Amino acid sequence: MNIPEFQSLKNQRKISMLTCYDAWSARLLSKSNVDAVLVGDSLAMVMHGHSSTLPASIELMALHTEAVARGLSEKLLIADLPFLSYRMQLTDNVKAAGSLMRAGAHGLKLEGARGNLELVQHLVDSGIPIMGHLGLTPQSVNQLGGFKVQGQAAAEYERIFHEAKDLEKAGCFSLVLECVPTKLAAAITRELKIPTIGIGAGPETDGQILVLQDMLGLNTQFKPKFLRHFLDGAEQIGQALNTYDAAVKSGEYPSAKESYNL
Ligand code: KIV
Repeated sequence: MNIPEFQSLKNQRKISMLTCYDAWSARLLSKSNVDAVLVGDSLAMVMHGHSSTLPASIELMALHTEAVARGLSEKLLIADLPFLSYRMQLTDNVKAAGSLMRAGAHGLKLEGARGNLELVQHLVDSGIPIMGHLGLTPQSVNQLGGFKVQGQAAAEYERIFHEAKDLEKAGCFSLVLECVPTKLAAAITRELKIPTIGIGAGPETDGQILVLQDMLGLNTQFKPKFLRHFLDGAEQIGQALNTYDAAVKSGEYPSAKESYNL
């Protein structure tokens, strides 16, 4: 799938996206019907154990993007510009964006509208498709005072609504809406011509995205209201690990069939 094909899905059918951080899950996702993947900066938390996305650097994002690109086929690959990497001088911002595109991304995502509109326009004019991200923007977790639902107060609702229109005008090909009320996500989705992708934004966005490890039930400590476990992953993997352990300790594994003969 490419960017125009992704965009043409608006008003045709819902779009499914998942995060992906490595080559083996990229290979699994390639065989699925999921439309597109995001190398999200959430990898700082999920893969590297940090408590926020702030430690993700451009080098780390490029490393994971390269790994995903090696495993992925025929899916759209979007990568996150990490914290502060696009808030420098224009040449440095462009260099950061270029390194993720050269790592194999087909487009990039950045958070927020304030102070980003000119950059979005410049990157789009330079041939880099940009996905916006509004609502709960985790790179601003310190300013927001935590990972909280956004846009519930009238002024916030209005601000996010207008910023969505600004990002579309600046040239974004799509917009992620994270942890906002259904009514706001629906109003933005109706207003914009570009597809909206929701996470914790209700059912009326043009598509949905979840963190792969969260929806597979691998991260049992994290269970916000919007998250559905589509697999009991932690339980099933735990059982497999103990089955392996028992087979090794009993001498049942490896069998003669699983061993080499002279
Ligand atoms: O980093 C990430 O995983 C994201 C998604 C949750 C949208 O930005």
